[in-house]
Amino acid sequence: MESTTGARAAVTEGRAGAAEPAIRFDGVTKRFGDTEAVKDMGIGIRRGEFFSLLGPSGCGKTTTLRMVAGFEQPSEGRIFLEGKPVEAVPPYRRNVNTVFQSYALFEHLDVADNVAFGQQRKKVPKAEIKTRIAEALELVQLTGREHAKPRELSGGQMQRVALARALINRPAVLLLDEPLGALDLKLRKQMQVELKQIQREVGITFVYVTHDQEEALSMSDRIAVMHDGRVMQCGVPEDVYERPEEPFVAGFIGISNLIEGTVGDPGIVELASGVSVPAPLPAECGRGERVRIAVRPEKIAVDHLEPGMVQVEGTVEQRVYLGMTTQITVALGNDARLVALEQTPTGPEPTIAGRKAIVCGWAGTPSTAWSCDDPPSPASRSAAPRGGCTRRVPSGRSYRKPRRSGASLSRPVSRILSCAVIYLSGA
Ligand SMILES: Nc1ncnc2c1ncn2[C@@H]1O[C@H](COP(=O)(O)OP(=O)(O)O)[C@@H](O)[C@H]1O
Ligand SMILES: [Mg+2]
Repeated sequence: MESTTGARAAVTEGRAGAAEPAIRFDGVTKRFGDTEAVKDMGIGIRRGEFFSLLGPSGCGKTTTLRMVAGFEQPSEGRIFLEGKPVEAVPPYRRNVNTVFQSYALFEHLDVADNVAFGQQRKKVPKAEIKTRIAEALELVQLTGREHAKPRELSGGQMQRVALARALINRPAVLLLDEPLGALDLKLRKQMQVELKQIQREVGITFVYVTHDQEEALSMSDRIAVMHDGRVMQCGVPEDVYERPEEPFVAGFIGISNLIEGTVGDPGIVELASGVSVPAPLPAECGRGERVRIAVRPEKIAVDHLEPGMVQVEGTVEQRVYLGMTTQITVALGNDARLVALEQTPTGPEPTIAGRKAIVCGWAGTPSTAWSCDDPPSPASRSAAPRGGCTRRVPSGRSYRKPRRSGASLSRPVSRILSCAVIYLSGA
């Protein structure tokens, strides 16, 4: 791998070594007329980090990237690149490159000329450009395709060219806006692995935009989950999955059963069915308060309960075969439902097929609980620590941050599922 190491050194050289984060958003808001596309963003992205902006369509991801690239200016707040404010720096002077989903290649130019385009415009000496093309194409595994035209390439290869064209400029930050969105699932999975590997090789800060939770979880060092212009939570993948700080995060990342109940004794939630459930309640939640607890489907056992598990009774409403796993919807009465995810049985017949009444349950405490009257989620905001994320405490009342359970659980198999929040109020 000597040559790849060489490519790495070449691509990363010139990056400043200061301790400032690669990007810092300081109270950044962006308005388009009445629309607030980004609200009071205050995150820091560390150097060399694979950082994802994850959220549904329209939540402000692209606008965030465009502000970093310099195509949009914040309406409020400031953006710092490697410690320097950039509002006065035009896009072409920022040490940043963008890779789009649409590749944006020049059809009449071959691979090498597409890759070299920016370098030629910068009047980099020809010999130097040639070396850089070779390095960049090696990184994206396109050595030998220098003279192919874009129409002769597959979608995956075109995206590799787009990537090489960005990497050749040796940016401090690479912005990737849903770069794999146009590829079929199998190729996307393969490119996810390769992209992550390239990022490790070159050590460039990647800011990766996606609405695909599984993609973000599997590739990122840290994830900022966005909703309606706000950063709802920013953390390592395990944190946003296992310890969502907001109901939105619990629902957007994987499936969550959100179960309503009433606070009873300290640390206990009483469900409508009379079942008592231990839960990590926020300190402010007193007896009688309505709360929601989140339980992941893969933590729910159906009919194979172990001693000490929380137990609820219901009937199997639906079984959906998903290959490796089977999704089981359990009706609990009063229109309440619980979704469980089980390893698909290896035997010829699923054990609970056709059965009506079942008992399901889960062990230990749910990972999170929220008061039903929790304030709207606060944005991460200004004065972010270097390379970190902060959360805002709304003035006039304390912010109820859920207590965290210490449970550490294996990586979920449910990531292949679409996202949903299941609310249960009549359990
Ligand atoms: N140039 C623009 N003019 C007006 N509204 C815009 C513009 N760009 C984005 N928006 C609005 O800002 C919000 C966030 O958009 P965007 O950043 O593209 O979201 P995402 O990339 O997460 O799908 C959306 O409501 C979108 O309609
Ligand atoms: Mg977008």
